[in-house]
Amino acid sequence: MENKIIAIIMAAGDGTRMNSFLPKVMHKICGYPIIEYVVSSATGVSNCEPVVILGNGAEEVEEYLGADIKYAYQHERLGTGHAVMMAKNYLENRTGYALVLAGDIPLIKSETLQGLVDYCQKGDYDAVALSAIFENADGYGRIVRNTSGDFERIVEHRDATDEERLIKEINASIYCFSIPSLLKGLSKLDNNNAQGEYYLTDVLGILKRQKKRIGVYSLYDSSQIMGINTRVQLAQVQKIMNRRINHGHLENGVTIIDPDNTYIGPYVKIERDVVIYPGNVLEGRTSIGEGSILYPNSRILDSNIGAKTQIQNSVILESQIGDQTTVGPFAYIRPGSVIGNKVRIGDFVEVKNAQIGEGSKVSHLTYVGNGEVGKNVNIGCGVVFVNYDGKKKHRTIVEDNAFIGCNTNLISPVTIKSNSYIAAGSTITDDVPNNALGIARARQINKENWVKKHEKEMEEN
Ligand code: UD1
Ligand code: CA
Repeated sequence: MENKIIAIIMAAGDGTRMNSFLPKVMHKICGYPIIEYVVSSATGVSNCEPVVILGNGAEEVEEYLGADIKYAYQHERLGTGHAVMMAKNYLENRTGYALVLAGDIPLIKSETLQGLVDYCQKGDYDAVALSAIFENADGYGRIVRNTSGDFERIVEHRDATDEERLIKEINASIYCFSIPSLLKGLSKLDNNNAQGEYYLTDVLGILKRQKKRIGVYSLYDSSQIMGINTRVQLAQVQKIMNRRINHGHLENGVTIIDPDNTYIGPYVKIERDVVIYPGNVLEGRTSIGEGSILYPNSRILDSNIGAKTQIQNSVILESQIGDQTTVGPFAYIRPGSVIGNKVRIGDFVEVKNAQIGEGSKVSHLTYVGNGEVGKNVNIGCGVVFVNYDGKKKHRTIVEDNAFIGCNTNLISPVTIKSNSYIAAGSTITDDVPNNALGIARARQINKENWVKKHEKEMEEN
């Protein structure tokens, strides 16, 4: 017996009910396409190799999933049985088992799929269908059992009699087949039904009539098999997935004040004793270190936040933030920024592709673009790193312990050496040496009694 499991994921459907230009399985749940969750659950089954059946929007799905996955193409949508036939190349001349599942059920867990495969293998079944009890089973295929309670066949809602429609045990569209039996059943399929389609569900009835061993594996947690056919269902599944992810973090020792209003992607890592206030959106490969506090309303994408750091009302993209640092409110940390430990980034500060060393402060209304700021630097209010000459970006270097007065322009490329001061209101175009004061502004003159003289002149005219 071969022990490799082929997982056939049917994702060729048109997704008409989504009313969208996007293929259905590319719609996102917690920041990732529906298909990503299904492929990742299937991949989690031991020794399992997914084959995705593509049709509508094939290029987009394939581009997203990449070349590591195997594909088969269904050019005409003639039903779920027909979809599986398209994967024939991967099944022929094989023994062992195939897992078959729909691509629109992102809540399905690896453990459930593994349970189904184990049940099928250990029980030596030719096919096992996953079922669940739905109070409202409208639209689903029903599991029809005989008088002794054994599997008989699956009937689609549209083909069912009134009596069959009372059945609450539904077919999840997730199966495990022994590969030779699956191929045998597929070869006997016809499209003699309400939709004129080749139903995969009929394969199980056909095999049953051939006296093969057919099982039903019942799932108590029916939410796992919720399919997405409409945007309403997309929103419902988003809610469930969001809750599932957040509960995982709560169990790991993270405080989430309002889990229904906190949005965390499936690959975000959060250490113990982090506190997250409502309105935070944590995306991509973000990580948050121990004891940090995320006050309300930040978006953090693909960034690493250190320990005991505090962030509020800010946007942080593809950047690194150290330990015991504070960011915000209203800071914008753009890609490529590396902010050290014990730094203070205050309100209306934008940092882009810049390093800011330990203990430095950029407290208000400042743009730090393409800069290298050393340790214990103080950047006053309203400083601009003038990094762009209309064609090229240049770098600005501010060395350790420098003090940049308020409302300064640093016209890059320029270097402010360590321990130096820049007078407020300066426009600095030349390097400033160590321990110097750089001052670059017109000297002030006061015109005595100017107002009176001016008024007199006005009257005379
Ligand atoms: C299917 C099952 C039904 C089950 C339900 C559970 C059949 C005939 N019916 O119905 O018993 O209760 O799922 O959600 O299988 N697809 C293709 N090519 C096709 C047709 C469909 O790849 O030609 C894909 C779709 O993209 C989708 C999956 O197969 O991912 C299921 O198809 P769908 O049309 O949604 O089937 P249901 O009517 O929901
Ligand atoms: Ca469906």
